[in-house]
Amino acid sequence: MNILAPSILSIDFGHMEDELKKVVNAGADIIHVDVMDGLFVPNISFGPPVIKYVKKAIPDTKLDLHMMVKDPIRYLNTYVSLGMSDITIHAEATKHLREDLLQIKESGLGVGVAVSPDTPLSAVENVLDLIDILLIMTVYPGFGGQSFREESYDKIREAVQMRETRGLSFDIEVDGGVNAENIDKILAAGANMIVAGSAVFNGDTEANTKRLLEMMK
Ligand code: DX5
Ligand code: ZN
Repeated sequence: MNILAPSILSIDFGHMEDELKKVVNAGADIIHVDVMDGLFVPNISFGPPVIKYVKKAIPDTKLDLHMMVKDPIRYLNTYVSLGMSDITIHAEATKHLREDLLQIKESGLGVGVAVSPDTPLSAVENVLDLIDILLIMTVYPGFGGQSFREESYDKIREAVQMRETRGLSFDIEVDGGVNAENIDKILAAGANMIVAGSAVFNGDTEANTKRLLEMMK
């Protein structure tokens, strides 16, 4: 099943509640939440207070947490209590990836692992059995509005193959530089969970969301 996860990194924070309702009314049923710590990535986004507000504004919408944070498991309990539906951590951000993913699993939430553009999929080969989501970063993490890295198509296809070979069923999520021009090709490569920040929130949020959802049918 194809899933669109609008990333609120590009939302107009001055009108957050209205903007969130627009994407939900347009049919999005999951929101991508980018938490950055200024250490793992050279940027700081937002944390629990903002996420609490999002949850309050759209309580029935799932939240897909993308932690761009060093040693992310330190914050597991915090985000579990905030009502995330899944938590994705970066393979590069921890020395004990498998143990950390197991802890997320034990918390009852969906388990995701993310790889930055320079990280080969071989780095997560031994945790594929544990995950619900493989997040392939198609830009260097840290900022919205960057261009999709063309070499990512091969990485998506490789992920599909690895999943098939092992008889697994995790979602393949793509994050960074997705727009109405390249989404067809990204879906054709085999990604089924699509994050879009600027392509959703720049301009007419509701129309953008509807258009992308239509293209994902
Ligand atoms: C970047 C974040 C993305 C970002 C995507 O590090 O992980 O989720 O919001 O933004 P766009 O879709 O504008 O590339
Ligand atoms: Zn993200």
